[in-house]
Amino acid sequence: MKIAILNGSPHKANTSAMVDAFLQGAQEAGHEVEVLHVGKMKIAGCLGCEYCHTKGNGQCIQKDDMEKVMPAYLDAEMIVYASPIFYSGITAQLSAAAQRVYAIGKPAKATKAALLLSSATKSYGGAVATYQNMINYMGLEDKGIITAVGDENGSEDKLNEIRNFAKNI
Ligand SMILES: Cc1cc2nc3c(=O)[nH]c(=O)nc-3n(C[C@H](O)[C@H](O)[C@H](O)COP(=O)(O)O)c2cc1C
Repeated sequence: MKIAILNGSPHKANTSAMVDAFLQGAQEAGHEVEVLHVGKMKIAGCLGCEYCHTKGNGQCIQKDDMEKVMPAYLDAEMIVYASPIFYSGITAQLSAAAQRVYAIGKPAKATKAALLLSSATKSYGGAVATYQNMINYMGLEDKGIITAVGDENGSEDKLNEIRNFAKNI
């Protein structure tokens, strides 16, 4: 299965450790995985201008790093959203990349999704709700949500849990 992981963290630390563990497990199971570091990309928020649904014919009027993400939205069979919790939600960077799928409506081939969240405290409820609403809207099946809170971040137990999760997806 082709899996695209959208890593919304702006730096390489806790969320990236979760993403790397998922990548290892998924590759061991024979999946083809691409990691998109959307947290480090320049992706503006959707303008809601409807250019994509009129003159643009599926193309966004904004020319930015979303052009690196769109091929994955067209090709991946599973989307994994990964983010640190910032003010109880996913990062603005991941939010922008997630919402800009609007240009094509929803990921073209994807039927499955998963969520990886890293935080200091158990304040991830808002991010989980956003993810659930978003994938319901897009018709994707949730394959699981893994959170790493506080000391769980970077722990071998948590990373193994993620590797096994990805192996059995
Ligand atoms: C701007 C900012 C806002 C944050 N807000 C929260 C929060 O609301 N709740 C929480 O538990 N942790 C919060 N944190 C902590 C991060 O979620 C946590 O350190 C996470 O492990 C960082 O992941 P990363 O290393 O991939 O960036 C915040 C961190 C930053 C920088």
